[in-house]
Amino acid sequence: MVSVAASPAVQPEPSTAPRRVTILGATGSIGTSTLSVIADRPEAFAVEAVTAFGNAERLARVAKEARARVAVIADRSAYDALASALAGSGIEAAAGAAAVEEAASRPVDVVVAGIVGSAGLAPTMAAIRAGSKVALANKECLVCAGDLFMGEARKGGVKILPLDSEHNAVFQALSGHSIDEVDRIILTGSGGPFRDWTKEAMAAANPDQALKHPTWSMGPKISIDSATLMNKGLEVIEAHHLFGVPEEQLDVVVHPQSIIHGMVAYKDGSVIAQMSAPDMRMPIAHCLSWPQRSPIGGPRLDLTRIGRFTFERPDLDRFPALRIARAALGAGSWATNILNAANEVAVAAYLAGNIGFLEIARLVEETIERAAAQGLSHAPGSIKDALALDREGRRIATSLLTRRETA
Ligand SMILES: NC(=O)c1ccc[n+]([C@@H]2O[C@H](COP(=O)([O-])OP(=O)(O)OC[C@H]3O[C@@H](n4cnc5c(N)ncnc54)[C@H](OP(=O)(O)O)[C@@H]3O)[C@@H](O)[C@H]2O)c1
Repeated sequence: MVSVAASPAVQPEPSTAPRRVTILGATGSIGTSTLSVIADRPEAFAVEAVTAFGNAERLARVAKEARARVAVIADRSAYDALASALAGSGIEAAAGAAAVEEAASRPVDVVVAGIVGSAGLAPTMAAIRAGSKVALANKECLVCAGDLFMGEARKGGVKILPLDSEHNAVFQALSGHSIDEVDRIILTGSGGPFRDWTKEAMAAANPDQALKHPTWSMGPKISIDSATLMNKGLEVIEAHHLFGVPEEQLDVVVHPQSIIHGMVAYKDGSVIAQMSAPDMRMPIAHCLSWPQRSPIGGPRLDLTRIGRFTFERPDLDRFPALRIARAALGAGSWATNILNAANEVAVAAYLAGNIGFLEIARLVEETIERAAAQGLSHAPGSIKDALALDREGRRIATSLLTRRETA
């Protein structure tokens, strides 16, 4: 998969002009970390557009702080609040899903795809079609329609820069090498807050406990996915598309210290690992400055203080989501799409207190089985298809949920 493979042998001369950046999902966890990296080096970056779903007040604040040209809110009913908060600032305000796509299409150096969920598909595809480099945090794009995204990027010669810390680590460890030289790709994970909990205790875990990630600070959806290990499953699917490696060559290792983020094992027996403090600002800074490396503030690794690294195999009995995600990857893109839709429904139901923690994975598996029985097992051929399949997945998952509640 040339789009994300090794850096070119001859690097272009570093440009001194500020890099133009658009941030999709600017009010979220990834958006906030991106803005913090940019704020550290205002001379190096210029923000074109920032977008959010409904948080108009926060969007207006970040747009002003970042001196963005345009701020776009997806929820039209929040337009008045955004426009009045931006009055007199000179920043253009817009609203609606089409306006988010238009913002993503503005020609810039890098678009940070930091929207959560399948809502990120159309704007990220718009950025690829416009020819901007895409720093991809929204893993749902690859989980729901990986072949389409990677195919479009290849067709347009667009670089997809993996922003997810594990994939960014692998991208760095691959630098200067071809995927043909690789034996295995190893993604690490902290194991989440329930790494050493019994199944019985996990069954009774409440959302506050599940949201307490031991090493990373992230948005609520990905925090729950980290607790179930669905996040690792989604990352295996993501890595398959980004690096063009089959599922059997993608390993997952639990590494509670979260210092090694990813490794590449080469055919000659060498393993190259990327390490950093667990801080999303680091992979973000790497993507924003790529192929150069630029200084950023923040924690530095002190290996003698960390003392030791440990590694464990994931327990697929307590964390079946990882097994289910791997099986979905084997079944094809229809199944990974349905997996993602069902998981979004299940996580929302769990956060709302409607289902127990262990029911998340059960609901996802049942939804995939039901979708297969209903003849939905065909690969999406377009973003429209992918979104239609996503809606079907949500419909099935919601009906299974309702049935549970009324049983
Ligand atoms: N957080 C991390 O450390 C991390 C690490 C790796 C990968 N990722 C991935 O990055 C993505 C973002 O995660 P996050 O943790 O930053 O999520 P988050 O904190 O929940 O933020 C989500 C962002 O998306 C916006 N948004 C939500 N629904 C939208 C819609 N329908 N249309 C347009 N914008 C919408 C939100 O706007 P409002 O604030 O207005 O709702 C917010 O700006 C996810 O795909 C996640 O898996 C995150």
